[in-house]
Amino acid sequence: MKSTIKLIDLLTQTNDYISGQRLAEMLGVSRQAVWKDIKALKDQGFDIKSVTNRGYMLASFPQYLNTHAIKSELNTTVIGSELYVLDSVDSTNDYLKSLGNNGCKNGAVVAAREQVKGKGRLGRAWQSTRDKNITFSFLLRPHITPYEASGITPIAGLAVCKSLREFTGLDCKIKWPNDIIIGKKKLCGILTEMSAEFDAVEYIVVGIGLNVNQTEFPEDIAFKTTSLALETKRSFNQNKLLAVILEELEHVFSKTNLRLTNDALNDYISLCVTIGKSVSFQRGNSHVTGIAADISTHGELMVMMPDGTICSVNAGEVTVQGIY
Ligand code: BTN
Repeated sequence: MKSTIKLIDLLTQTNDYISGQRLAEMLGVSRQAVWKDIKALKDQGFDIKSVTNRGYMLASFPQYLNTHAIKSELNTTVIGSELYVLDSVDSTNDYLKSLGNNGCKNGAVVAAREQVKGKGRLGRAWQSTRDKNITFSFLLRPHITPYEASGITPIAGLAVCKSLREFTGLDCKIKWPNDIIIGKKKLCGILTEMSAEFDAVEYIVVGIGLNVNQTEFPEDIAFKTTSLALETKRSFNQNKLLAVILEELEHVFSKTNLRLTNDALNDYISLCVTIGKSVSFQRGNSHVTGIAADISTHGELMVMMPDGTICSVNAGEVTVQGIY
């Protein structure tokens, strides 16, 4: 373990000052080495008070995503029990898939201060400015078939939407299948990827990109994108918010056993802006329009077509009239 990480562990175990001598003894290093690590941590944004003859005390964590601050807020047993916060990564989904191939635990989480190749749905890119937003992925190893896994993304969307409503008081809603929106603008996107045999899931990685403190977006998406800061004119503690989301994910997954139960489906439908609206989507070679009537127990959008037939949509882009 890196010496600075051990040092923070010791500093978080007490609300009082610890002398440099005591820290050096506990870490098995010299006092100079402790001093050097304290300086490095201060440079990284850790607020460490130092008082002559008393020693050091950790007053607060940095604002950017970091393992210590998340763990100090987190109260879960599965989701986040294995937690990595990376300085910079291509994509947290890709990184976690490689951990998944190497046997990481059910519930492992990878978050990143920055993604340089963040991925969106349908082959798009996910853009997020360093240290402004929450970008993370979690991995599940459910004992189910790929067919039975269809509930996982809507349940994740539901959990994120509920936790954001609770944490911020904002009127967050779901745009089918798994965008979280406020008003007509997108706040959060979810990308689910799976590794499976024909009849058994090996693991599922769910990646979540949530716009938190970013207030300016590239021109091509600015008109349909928002963030918590834009909506409230204040900034949010990303570490606390991530812990709250992980807790709600664990709560909802354990309550539903990863299935879109009647209760979960009703909750999802009550928050879904798509239902009752005119929607357009691609069917074969034609672009068609109908009225979104319902969501099936597998999370498909059931659309009433102009001829009265019901068309079930399970993937792809659906434009909701008046939204995007
Ligand atoms: C979408 O709405 O298109 C889905 C966006 C998903 C973005 C998140 S950010 C964390 C995780 N890592 C990725 O590369 N993508 C997902």
